Amino acid sequence: MTVVVTGGAGYIGAHVVRLLAARGERVVVVDDLSSGRAERVGDARLEVMDLAADVAVDRLAALLVEVGAHAVVHLAARKRVDESLTRPTWYYRQNVGGTANVLEAMHQAEVPALVFSSSAAVYGAAGAGLVTEDSPTSPMNPYGETKLAGEWLVRDAARAWGMRCLSLRYFNVAGAGWDDLHDPAALNLVPLVLGRIRAGLPPLVFGADHPTTDGTCIRDYVHVLDLAEAHVAALDHVAPPDGGSGDHAEVLNVGTGVGSSVLEVIGAFASAIGSPVVPEVLGRRAGDPPQVVASVDRAADVLGWRAARDLADIVQSTVAAELAAR
Ligand SMILES: NC(=O)c1ccc[n+]([C@@H]2O[C@H](COP(=O)([O-])OP(=O)(O)OC[C@H]3O[C@@H](n4cnc5c(N)ncnc54)[C@H](O)[C@@H]3O)[C@@H](O)[C@H]2O)c1
Repeated sequence: MTVVVTGGAGYIGAHVVRLLAARGERVVVVDDLSSGRAERVGDARLEVMDLAADVAVDRLAALLVEVGAHAVVHLAARKRVDESLTRPTWYYRQNVGGTANVLEAMHQAEVPALVFSSSAAVYGAAGAGLVTEDSPTSPMNPYGETKLAGEWLVRDAARAWGMRCLSLRYFNVAGAGWDDLHDPAALNLVPLVLGRIRAGLPPLVFGADHPTTDGTCIRDYVHVLDLAEAHVAALDHVAPPDGGSGDHAEVLNVGTGVGSSVLEVIGAFASAIGSPVVPEVLGRRAGDPPQVVASVDRAADVLGWRAARDLADIVQSTVAAELAAR
């Protein structure tokens, strides 16, 4: 199978590319290298292209035809919540416009199968229980809105053009499958905690009075290698050897189904580095939901996939990758 991976030079995309290559698939990466790095794609062909640009539809369609693509994994997107608040129109152009361009190019080139990177950000402030794919969507920022709009576009294109598509709603992605593919952006708790520890500073805890077991916020941390494996299973679902038939568009949560509190994450770092870590507790941040944890049964039913790694694996691989990078 020939797979075009957009955003394949990024943190998650590079893991997907490496797994697909290891399975013997032919992989072509499309990336503008805005946050991605060329050295992450290994032997895969890399086409440097801004997918949000006007010329992207024709350029990508020509590439899809040239390489004989069977499927696209579309990860390329801007992912900074803070930036999306100050540059909303640009975020819509990049993330929604880019996704529209990818879908149009696939239609032109008659590529029938897509796996799309969505996010748990589409749910916004989830309630206390597990979040299912049928839970209400109510994103709390333009970034999350662009992901939800992307899902709608994907669904509508699947219907209109007979495509088979899966949108994967990732929960909190962390860890490293290989030391050289660690997350270079310190945007979520796991790299942030390690950064504070290495700087000799206490990790910050925003609120210890939330309605949770230990008072700190609970999230569902999924190992990036588990997530990459979910993409391989998703590709097998949308692009089976017989090509599949009929249109299909579905959304699936990709998490572990297990929540970890901020204090538990900090405790996992203390175990991984073998010394105590004392956090500094500050007040709550506005808009931080106390708990967001995935129901993962639908992904298990549809893909036969479940996360195999836990918080300790995530933290240990993060520490190992950081030590290797020194
Ligand atoms: N990291 C997470 O916790 C998380 C959670 C939920 C969803 N996601 C989604 O997963 C996807 C990958 O995220 P990541 O963490 O690997 O981020 P990343 O920034 O490491 O990777 C994104 C890649 O896309 C490329 N890119 C961005 N805009 C582009 C454009 N207009 N044209 C071409 N290439 C472009 C970047 O250069 C980069 O290589 C994104 O769609 C993101 O929204 C990530």
